[in-house]
Amino acid sequence: MNVTVTGAGGQIGYALLFRIASGQMFGPTTPVNLRLLEIPAGLAAAAGTALELEDCAFPLLRDVMVTDDPTRAFDGVNVALLVGSRPRGIGEERVALLEGNGRIFGPHGTAINAGAASDVRVLVVGNPANTNALVAAAFAPDIPAERFTALTRLDHNRGVAQLAVHLGVHVSEIDGLAIWGNHSATQYPDVFHATAAGRPVRELVDEDWLAGTFIPRVEKRGYEIITARGASSAGSAAEATIDHVYDWVHGTGERWTSAAIVSDGSYGVPEGLVCSFPVRSVEGQWQVVQGLELNAFSRARIDASVAELIEERDHVRALGLLPTAR
Ligand code: NAI
Repeated sequence: MNVTVTGAGGQIGYALLFRIASGQMFGPTTPVNLRLLEIPAGLAAAAGTALELEDCAFPLLRDVMVTDDPTRAFDGVNVALLVGSRPRGIGEERVALLEGNGRIFGPHGTAINAGAASDVRVLVVGNPANTNALVAAAFAPDIPAERFTALTRLDHNRGVAQLAVHLGVHVSEIDGLAIWGNHSATQYPDVFHATAAGRPVRELVDEDWLAGTFIPRVEKRGYEIITARGASSAGSAAEATIDHVYDWVHGTGERWTSAAIVSDGSYGVPEGLVCSFPVRSVEGQWQVVQGLELNAFSRARIDASVAELIEERDHVRALGLLPTAR
C-alpha cells in the first residue's frame, strides 16, 4: 500500500504517520510504503519524523520517502491523505483560507491525476476540507469523482462522544448519528435517527438541549480545542483519519458513520458538492444512507450548511480553481 501524507512535517502528520506504519489503518498484514510530502520549509521536520519512523522498526513499514515534489510523492499512490495546508488561527475566518489553500490542492490534484494507482482513494483533511476536495477532484478529471472525500469523521466522533456523556452510556452503544454538510461551524450533527443502547435518542433529549447545548458544542469543538491547546486538534484528527480510511477499505457493515463525499443529489444536495452525509462503506465504496425522514429542524440546518458549501464552491470557481465541471 503506497500512502502519501501531505503536510507530513506538521502536527497531524506527526500524530498520524506512526499509526499508519503500525498497521492501524490497513490492518496487521498489509505492508506500507510512506511518502511524506512537504514544502521546503517543512522538509526538515518531515525528515526528522522519518528518522523516528525508522527507529520504531515497524514490521509493516517497507519504505519512507521524504520529498517536496508532488509528482514523486503521488506516483503510484493508493491512498492520498491531503493534510498539508495552513491551519486556521484563533479568530480567523475560513473564507480567508479558501484562496491560499485552493492553490495548494489544485497542483496536488494534477499530480494525483498524472501518477496515482488506478484504485487511488483520496481523503482531504486540510481545511476548508470539503472545498479543498472539490478543487483537487476538479484537477483530476481522469479519476472517478467518488474517490475524493473530505474528513468529517472527527465531527462524527465528537458527536458520538458528547451524546454518550449526556446520556450516560458508552460510545459503543451510540449508533445512527450523522454529520451533514460542511466541516465548519455550520455542520449539522443529527441525532434524530440515532439510538443509545438501543433506545431512540429523540425520545431521550429535547430540542432545547439539541439547539442550545449539543449542536453548538460539536460545531464549535474545533475552536474549543484551539483555545485550550493553542493549536488545532491533532491526535483526534489523526484518529478520525485512520477511522475514515479503515472503514472505506474494510467496510462498515450495517453500522453508519459520516463522511464528506461527492453528492449524487441525495437529499436535495446539489450534485457535485463535497458534502457530509450519513454513509455506509460497502465493497470499498461509500454509500449514502437513503430513505431518512428529515424534520423541519434538520432540514433548515442541512440547507444552511449546504448553502455555505455552494458559496465556497462559487468562490473557488470565480478564482478559476474549478477548471473541469464534474
Ligand atoms: P500544521 O501547520 O501543524 O501542519 C501543516 C503542514 O502542512 C506544515 O508542516 C506545512 O509545511 C505543510 N504544508 C503546507 N503547504 C503544503 C503543501 N503545499 N504541500 C505539502 N505540505 C504543505 O497543521 P496541522 O495541525 O497538521 O493541520 C493540518 C490541516 O488540517 C489544517 O488545515 C487544519 O485546519 C486541518 N484540520 C482538519 C480537521 C478535520 O476534521 N477535517 C481537524 C483538524 C485539523
